[in-house]
Amino acid sequence: MDTQTSLETGHTDGPFADRSFIEFFAGIGLIHESIASFGWKCLYANDNDPKKAQAYKNNFPSVEIDERDIQKVPVEDLPAAQLATASFPCIDLSQAGGRKGIHAAHSGVVWSFLEHIESLTKLGKAPKFLLLENVAGLLTLHEGASIDILLHEISRLGYAIDLVQVDAKHFIPQARNRVFVIGVKDPELGGSAEMPDTHIRRYKVRQVYDRNRSLPWHFFDFPDLPIRQLQLSDVLLELPDDDPRWWDAERMAYFWDHLEVDHRTRLNNLVKAKATMRITAVRRGRRRGLREQIFNLRADDLASCLRTPKGGSSIQFVVQLTRGDVKVRRILGIESGRLQGVGLPSLSPDFVFPQSEQDALFGFGDAVCVPAVRWVFKHSIESYLTEVKIGAPEQTRMDFEVAV
Ligand SMILES: C[S@@+](CC[C@H](N)C(=O)[O-])C[C@H]1O[C@@H](n2cnc3c(N)ncnc32)[C@H](O)[C@@H]1O
Repeated sequence: MDTQTSLETGHTDGPFADRSFIEFFAGIGLIHESIASFGWKCLYANDNDPKKAQAYKNNFPSVEIDERDIQKVPVEDLPAAQLATASFPCIDLSQAGGRKGIHAAHSGVVWSFLEHIESLTKLGKAPKFLLLENVAGLLTLHEGASIDILLHEISRLGYAIDLVQVDAKHFIPQARNRVFVIGVKDPELGGSAEMPDTHIRRYKVRQVYDRNRSLPWHFFDFPDLPIRQLQLSDVLLELPDDDPRWWDAERMAYFWDHLEVDHRTRLNNLVKAKATMRITAVRRGRRRGLREQIFNLRADDLASCLRTPKGGSSIQFVVQLTRGDVKVRRILGIESGRLQGVGLPSLSPDFVFPQSEQDALFGFGDAVCVPAVRWVFKHSIESYLTEVKIGAPEQTRMDFEVAV
């Protein structure tokens, strides 16, 4: 470890001192899974859902996860660390939750996170980096008021800011459009740089920048997004024809009956062509004023964004065609995990899945996509540290060009 650097950052406790993090809204641990492989060590994790905390412990037994409500955690209980992460609840920011805003009961806990950062700063224990993650809808929520106030608060706490929008579909066959806010406490950053016009900073991100040009922006040098290697067929399980999870004749009749008209035509054409393929489907409808929900098929070899399976429209289905014969079933917990980038031969093969099917669907529905987080992390915080020559322990590094 570089002693000089440790003294500069104020963290001198142990071999991972320069790559230590505390994480809030830790869930089942996919932020942890994303960044631990760069040699980062978690010093503290918090999440008040006992089932998720158990899933977290199964993977990271050395971290004692704090299960208190973040609002009840005294700052004295938080260790000094180089990074603090918050993939905070999205309920109040998304359509499904009524877009109540960043001050509403669920998503508003992000302010507790920022209060902790402020208190740590007063105690001389400010993390050098912040990483926040949430749904892309945050960019436009209430004409941008939610993201604007969030960025202003992060800059008030002394951080230069980057903001990127990354869809997991570039890494994994899942459409999952997310924003990442990266904060860096470095007085040399945050000048008057122009936001580069790249794929991850187009349209809505640029609008945020244009409204908030006076903020201390720092634009990391991200490469082009990768070309995805994994297809839906790499992620979905092959179940035997007689597996009881395939729907019976009655449910299949319901499915055909409730397919969106255009989609029924498409599926009929595939049946006539005796196609062999797998596609995903979701139920949609109530918000468009229909009395019953209807099934929509995807046409792009992707799964739709995973969500916690609380209502009918948040459940996904697999539609399998074998020489024109159609079978349908619900998506499985193991497939949800793979769609978040764990449990695949090339991606976190040893990740321990939550034990029950329901816990897996809930845990992964709410989680982050590991290779997408790794990509963002590698090209921002990791590249910053590499430039200032703080080496990660070599034995814990992976070849992420292969992994992502
Ligand atoms: C979007 S999920 C984060 C998922 C996580 N990144 C993962 O990989 O599983 C938000 C998490 O915040 C937790 N949470 C919500 N309100 C909380 C509170 N008041 N205190 C602590 N945790 C809370 C939820 O239990 C949930 O796991």
